[in-house]
Amino acid sequence: MSKGKILFQLSGSIACFKACQLLSKLAQNGYEIEVVATASALKFVGEATLEGLTGRRVHREAFEPGQYMKHIHLARWADLILLCPASANVINKFAAGIADDLVTTLFLANDFKKPFWIAPAMNVEMLRHPATQSSLEKLESWGVRLLGTGSGALACGEVGEGRLIEPEILFGMIEKHFGGRGEVSRAEDSLKILITSGGTRVPIDGVRSIANFSTGSTGATLSDALTARGHSVTLLRARDALAPRAPVREKEFVTFQDLETMLKTELSERDYDVVIHAAAVSDYSVASLSSNGKDFSTSIGKVDSGEELTLKLHRNPKLIDQLRSFSRNKAIRVVGFKLTNSLGEAEQLEAVRKLASHARADLLVHNDLGEIVGARHRARIYSSHDPKNLVLIAEVEDKASLAKSLESLLVSKGRA
Ligand SMILES: Cc1cc2nc3c(=O)[nH]c(=O)nc-3n(C[C@H](O)[C@H](O)[C@H](O)COP(=O)(O)O)c2cc1C
Repeated sequence: MSKGKILFQLSGSIACFKACQLLSKLAQNGYEIEVVATASALKFVGEATLEGLTGRRVHREAFEPGQYMKHIHLARWADLILLCPASANVINKFAAGIADDLVTTLFLANDFKKPFWIAPAMNVEMLRHPATQSSLEKLESWGVRLLGTGSGALACGEVGEGRLIEPEILFGMIEKHFGGRGEVSRAEDSLKILITSGGTRVPIDGVRSIANFSTGSTGATLSDALTARGHSVTLLRARDALAPRAPVREKEFVTFQDLETMLKTELSERDYDVVIHAAAVSDYSVASLSSNGKDFSTSIGKVDSGEELTLKLHRNPKLIDQLRSFSRNKAIRVVGFKLTNSLGEAEQLEAVRKLASHARADLLVHNDLGEIVGARHRARIYSSHDPKNLVLIAEVEDKASLAKSLESLLVSKGRA
């Protein structure tokens, strides 16, 4: 019996050869597959290869005697529709409502009753192009699931985002979607999650900054674990923070102001169920700089290093306190983090209580630096609805267990 029916569409990218590896794995694992390829895709891989892998003939023409309605029937037949690789051209055509070949006509005739996933693959500049970016946003808002891209060496010789997600990761996502290996949360449990990760920097001048020691490893672990469980993750990641392994929608920040703006935009424009605020946000920004009695602006190129420098710092507002007011989903669940440095138990609890008193968070994760040694990363998860009455709900010894505990707490509460 077939494990699921997949309408597998390919468009013109060098990554078509990787799509063949995925096709082969899906066919070997009992999926029923119909392949549709654009004319360009067939310049990258031959029809004979695609037919050999799936055991079925490849659909390429919209106008074929006896099969004129296949742009309707194929989509109705499928349990899952996947465009892999998705070229910049097809993505932009989808968003513009153009239907001039079988792949684009199938999209325009799609009723969105079936999941429609796309796995982009392209040169980094094609991906970053405002046309492609706005098309991707539009497609997502219509209900298309964007599978993200990996980064690394691209076929064009450049390095950056835009690589097709590795076939084995895509295979895992599909298996999970169809309930294989019992790994995934059921589709109705899947949450839209925003994670912040890594540390912000405080610019002193155009070349210097004050940083903190955050590596972003907790954020990356959470992002990977939650993605693997089938949730839709957006990661706001510090430029130098550890990258997640599983591809997610990502945005990069450097300063407090960058992160504040991104949080405002993301939370006000998208319906998130959960925000996990794991970033180490600087408590201060530089208010003024002076050297030798002379004041400088932080935006100047470089302060001369020959003299002593005086920095005046002012306090930043706490971003965690504002997450609910930024969010258009007022029922969003907020997970905050508190790091203490080698405090006794009572002082640790006091620090968490203080954060709970203003953060309006649902859950607070506490770590103490003294309890982070090598892979051991003790964390306590508190329910913080009533700041005066914190409830310890889990205590874990490493980041993977933290991700697991958080996930089950968030899923058990359901969608906001
Ligand atoms: C060698 C080569 C590699 C290409 N790789 C990509 C790619 O990875 N992603 C992409 O969007 N376009 C790529 N292109 C450009 C597309 O193939 C081109 O835009 C084509 O018209 C896409 O047709 P389609 O979208 O109908 O499949 C490549 C072109 C060439 C010649």
